[in-house]
Amino acid sequence: MEISKEIKKLKEEKNGIILVHNYQLPEIQDIGDIIGDSLDLSRKAKETDADTIIFCGVRFMAETAKILSPDKKVLLPVFEAGCPMADMISPDDILKFKKGHPDYWVVAYVNTSAEVKAVSDICCTSANAVNIVKNIPAKNILFVPDKNLGNYVKINVPEKNIVLWNGFCEVHRRINIEKLMETKKLHSDAIIIVHPECEPEIVELADEVLSTNGMINFVKKSQSKEFIIGTEEGLIYRLSKENPDKKFYNTGTTAVCVDMKKTRIADVLKALKYEQYEITLDDNIIEKAQIALNRMLEYS
Ligand code: 13P
Ligand code: SF4
Repeated sequence: MEISKEIKKLKEEKNGIILVHNYQLPEIQDIGDIIGDSLDLSRKAKETDADTIIFCGVRFMAETAKILSPDKKVLLPVFEAGCPMADMISPDDILKFKKGHPDYWVVAYVNTSAEVKAVSDICCTSANAVNIVKNIPAKNILFVPDKNLGNYVKINVPEKNIVLWNGFCEVHRRINIEKLMETKKLHSDAIIIVHPECEPEIVELADEVLSTNGMINFVKKSQSKEFIIGTEEGLIYRLSKENPDKKFYNTGTTAVCVDMKKTRIADVLKALKYEQYEITLDDNIIEKAQIALNRMLEYS
């Protein structure tokens, strides 16, 4: 049987749903039930009535699904699919900071482990970070782990005192300003859209700074026909598929997240067949991390 048909059959038998992040390979996007950004997928994971969630993305995303739907089986098809930025902060780092700064709220980007979320006050994604920081009842904030997203928030919420952690995403950091300017020269009508994980000079040059779903929605509504996309290149596949009349260019730098590309269609089939790799978390961690994630969903 064709592999996608086999996946569909097993998925129906097990009442499963396949959630796919926008950066996944085309073959995975094509079999997904829902394709989206971190915020969208967290919401869907909480709302779904499926028994099993097959999460095609990286570990912190599957953990988020488990925290929000602890009674469901959550499977991550590739065990080693992680996010290097999420590993740049530990729960101990936060506890140490909190000891010396009891009046600070810790705002954790969802690109963090479940254990980090459990010791944070609230989570955010790239789609809602500015609004969350604006709306929470705290003046002093430690923003972890991404210093670029944190810096973007700082610029947009100048009334708050925001301390930044020194984490970063290597994929977005690689996007180079000279190459971007050369690309813009070649396509002078193109609108530059970048992710807030990019370096500040890139963010400053951009016309729009958006999460991956923010980019999808912006392009759909835009009258423009050409766009330079400053994020992981998986998004260009979805943008091109959904907007065949529009043209998309990368920034002149190859931006590929190796971890996001680890999941292949055969891994999804194995995940469903052997129910692997199941995300398990301590009840105590789930309970505490749920507070930070639910607060995020309430505030956004
Ligand atoms: P989004 O929340 O915009 O999908 O971004 C997730 C991510 O990992 C960016 O690198
Ligand atoms: Fe993590 Fe960057 Fe990959 Fe996103 S693109 S999952 S932040 S390494």
